[in-house]
Amino acid sequence: MGYKKFLKKIEGDKIGYESATPDIVSNFLCEDIIKRLMDNAKDNIKDNINISSDIGVIDCCCGIGNVSIALSKFFNFVVAVDKDKERLKIAERNAKIYNCKNIKFIHSDIFSINIKDLKEKYNLNVAFADPQRRIIKDGKIIRTNNLTETSPNTINLINFITPEIPNMCVLTSSNAEVNLPCEKEYVSWQGRKGKRETLLVLYFGNLKKCEKSAVVLPSKDKICKETNFEKVECEKSEKPLKYIYEIKDCVVKAELQNELGILTKCKIFNEKFLTSENEIKSNFFENRFEVLGICTQKNLIENLKKINARKVVIRGKIMPEEHKKMKNEIERKLDGGKEKIHIFINGKKILIGRNIDLKI
Ligand SMILES: C[S@@+](CC[C@H](N)C(=O)[O-])C[C@H]1O[C@@H](n2cnc3c(N)ncnc32)[C@H](O)[C@@H]1O
Repeated sequence: MGYKKFLKKIEGDKIGYESATPDIVSNFLCEDIIKRLMDNAKDNIKDNINISSDIGVIDCCCGIGNVSIALSKFFNFVVAVDKDKERLKIAERNAKIYNCKNIKFIHSDIFSINIKDLKEKYNLNVAFADPQRRIIKDGKIIRTNNLTETSPNTINLINFITPEIPNMCVLTSSNAEVNLPCEKEYVSWQGRKGKRETLLVLYFGNLKKCEKSAVVLPSKDKICKETNFEKVECEKSEKPLKYIYEIKDCVVKAELQNELGILTKCKIFNEKFLTSENEIKSNFFENRFEVLGICTQKNLIENLKKINARKVVIRGKIMPEEHKKMKNEIERKLDGGKEKIHIFINGKKILIGRNIDLKI
């Protein structure tokens, strides 16, 4: 089945719709927050919370309400705040469509709210926030990676909420620089038209389980960086072995290549690839390639002809204009072949590979 941002019918204004959290992410986050709370309850007998019936959650900037609706299925009560009046009305309509009776909508700037009073009134134990990362800069709409440029300002929001509600989950850009006392969880999934998407989720308070983690959706496979254990070093290989495996962005951004190498019994080839003599499957691999050879620019065509190549996918550090020119030049010389072949440019050396998951 193709990718759908929303699995249910949902209304929205253009910006509200575009900046809403996709269902694949919001459903995973809600489940994950509950799991994290349940782990705490198990660890701490004093923390005698009945997860489903006692806990309230605040969605600090709810937009068109997609996450609030998902949260309402897992939590006893949801307080959903947004400073945009029209968008909040849309969120209310969306909640009505899904018959969510346990959401209280508040039209306000989050910083004008008395969090202490609200926390007592609705038994708020968790806070969620997905600040707006699309901002207008010099008259243009851009996506910011800077936590102080989001709306609301992510740093100010965390400082405002966590003294009262320490258990907080915040969505940020996967390219954001974050130096805060939280778990950094990178979540990757395949979006519209197969586009690779990655978000950084920050977990504070009792929601924090480790320093860094990486998750792939929809499988929900997770790798965590365990700081308490002695680090086992994954072997490295300067040469590619029989197969190379492209590592998912969430693992690369979380710098968990070592952990993935050990988990999959592969060697580290470089920052973005593992390698092995064996064919291995993992949800943390973006693509899997069989290595067909290594050559130079000079004997590339000759080698490509030998393996019946017709189309090439060029990878590596290469400028877009040069990329197009090089692809056209190569393919013009390969008119007899049939196969789609990947070539990886690394300085003067070119690695030739076949994607073993794609059928032509
Ligand atoms: C990325 S959207 C949230 C999307 C939401 N998670 C969803 O799924 O629909 C961010 C929202 O933050 C709201 N916002 C920005 N600054 C705010 C503030 N100071 N207080 C409350 N809401 C704010 C914006 O109006 C916008 O609707």
